Amino acid sequence: MMSESRAVPQGSQDAFKAANTLVLASGTLAETATLAGVIAEALTPGDVVLLDGPLAAGKTTFVTSLCRALDCAEQPSSPTYAISNIYTCPRFEVFHIDAYRLSGVDEFYNLGIEEFFPDSVALIEWGERVAEAFVDPLRIAISFEDAESEGRVYTFASTGKRWQGLMAQLRARWPDAGV
Ligand SMILES: Nc1ncnc2c1ncn2[C@@H]1O[C@H](COP(=O)(O)OP(=O)(O)OP(=O)(O)O)[C@@H](O)[C@H]1O
Ligand SMILES: [Mg+2]
Repeated sequence: MMSESRAVPQGSQDAFKAANTLVLASGTLAETATLAGVIAEALTPGDVVLLDGPLAAGKTTFVTSLCRALDCAEQPSSPTYAISNIYTCPRFEVFHIDAYRLSGVDEFYNLGIEEFFPDSVALIEWGERVAEAFVDPLRIAISFEDAESEGRVYTFASTGKRWQGLMAQLRARWPDAGV
């Protein structure tokens, strides 16, 4: 696992909103599962994780790895047609949402599920479509060069305090990270 990190100012006049980012490259599905395991351990009720990346990047696969690490009762499936699935896990319930067919936050609010989020963890594929609905989500952008290989690059970004500890932990675990 290779990594690098940097602070990226998101708005030139808005220094306190600078995103904390971290880039981790995984070579195999097994490595991705290890990464998901570290993240799963850090999750607590109220957390929102936004997963982005092109078709077949591995958003659903990442959710599956997270849910396996969380010991959830159900096996995640692509919720594109249902939009939202709910899984029962020992520490909390997981809302698995696919925002692909949502036109934006209004349609998301129409689902009426965000009232449950304070007690649950939300994992949202195509999350940037509804990002403005959340105060301090963990953003994970997945990219790849060769769809046939298992190599994937995970770019983590967050702006508030919530995810600083996890980002520091990931940097410590994969110390070839930049500053
Ligand atoms: N390191 C990896 N991480 C994730 N998926 C991988 C990896 N290596 C190979 N794959 C494969 O890539 C595919 C990813 O499919 P997946 O359904 O997870 O993508 P997705 O981003 O959810 O797509 P969609 O936009 O259609 O929802 C799977 O077939 C998976 O086995
Ligand atoms: Mg998917």
